[in-house]
Amino acid sequence: MIGFDLCWIGRALVFLLLIPRILGWGKEGHYAICKIAEGYLTEDTVTAVKALIPDHAEGDLAAVCSWPDDVRFHYRWSSPLHYVDTPDFRCNYTYCRDCHDSAEQKDRCVTGAIYNYTMQLMSGYNSNSEIKYNLTEALMFLSHFVGDVHQPLHAGFLGDEGGNTITVRWYRRKTNLHHVWDTMIIDSALKTFYNKDLATMIQAIQSNITNGWFSGISSWANCASDHTVCPDPYASESIDLACKFAYRNATPGSTLGDDYFFSRLPVVETRLAQSGVRLAATLNRIFASHASIAQE
Ligand SMILES: *[C@@H]1O[C@H](CO)[C@@H](O)[C@H](O)[C@H]1NC(C)=O
Ligand SMILES: *[C@@H]1O[C@H](CO)[C@@H](O)[C@H](O)[C@H]1NC(C)=O
Ligand SMILES: *[C@@H]1O[C@H](CO)[C@@H](O)[C@H](O)[C@H]1NC(C)=O
Ligand SMILES: *[C@@H]1O[C@H](CO)[C@@H](O)[C@H](O)[C@H]1NC(C)=O
Ligand SMILES: [Zn+2]
Repeated sequence: MIGFDLCWIGRALVFLLLIPRILGWGKEGHYAICKIAEGYLTEDTVTAVKALIPDHAEGDLAAVCSWPDDVRFHYRWSSPLHYVDTPDFRCNYTYCRDCHDSAEQKDRCVTGAIYNYTMQLMSGYNSNSEIKYNLTEALMFLSHFVGDVHQPLHAGFLGDEGGNTITVRWYRRKTNLHHVWDTMIIDSALKTFYNKDLATMIQAIQSNITNGWFSGISSWANCASDHTVCPDPYASESIDLACKFAYRNATPGSTLGDDYFFSRLPVVETRLAQSGVRLAATLNRIFASHASIAQE
């Protein structure tokens, strides 16, 4: 069973914040997440995924996991689907309260989008369905947004736009806190520990998954009550991590260096691992019983 949560809360205020925002893990992060996921796909899912992704991806899902960022200006409507804003300093998330865009349209946030594209892929594989969705786009959006919802500041505070308006220095470079979490921590890790090679970093994460060295890993793939997809707990984890690690000691104007980098990198690596495992589990649930259709 999947579906949108029901929300009864009426909304009086309409915010129109048309500020461009940076949208999601950088290219490396999304590539890593989808590469990790590829290692856990069942045969049926691999067949379905290969049939859906564009030819230029040459059968590699990871090659198209940043596509939603590439089209975000062309598909302006998709911008709010990369994140969810939570109330300032509460450090918690609820679907009904938080999943809307700046014009208060409900379901228009990253968790709503994950339900939306899961539903499209499920119904697209049901021949009785009348509505024809573009399942290529649905798969690329879903794979991207499962990654985004794991970036702690993608469930960050409304007032600072998930850290986008918090100017900090990353070592000597001037940037903002959101960008530190999308890109800079991963870039610094590549330079410091992985010989600038993303494949080596991905292998290190994969071997920690295989060896069970991440805590709680045995339950990562589970969804409560046999749901196909369950993005809400991922968003709750993200804002919790944002408060405990991302915002902490990162006040406007501060310089973030070794202390911040070394203590936050394990959080980033865990979130990349978790989103890869959970994306695979979600795709496997979606495509599990549809092997015959995938072969058309
Ligand atoms: C969120 O946290 C605030 C305090 O930080 C609390 O008052 C509120 O009840 C919490 N909401 C939920 C849904 O947990
Ligand atoms: C659901 O997907 C359709 C097709 O891409 C899109 O037009 C719509 O905005 C999406 N809504 C949400 C909440 O993701
Ligand atoms: C589905 O979306 C992809 C990617 O945007 C596009 O290349 C393709 O033409 C679309 N398919 C249809 C039938 O519109
Ligand atoms: C793998 O786990 C070890 C032991 O907990 C840890 O020191 C290392 O940083 C982890 N590496 C990655 C990429 O998660
Ligand atoms: Zn994104």
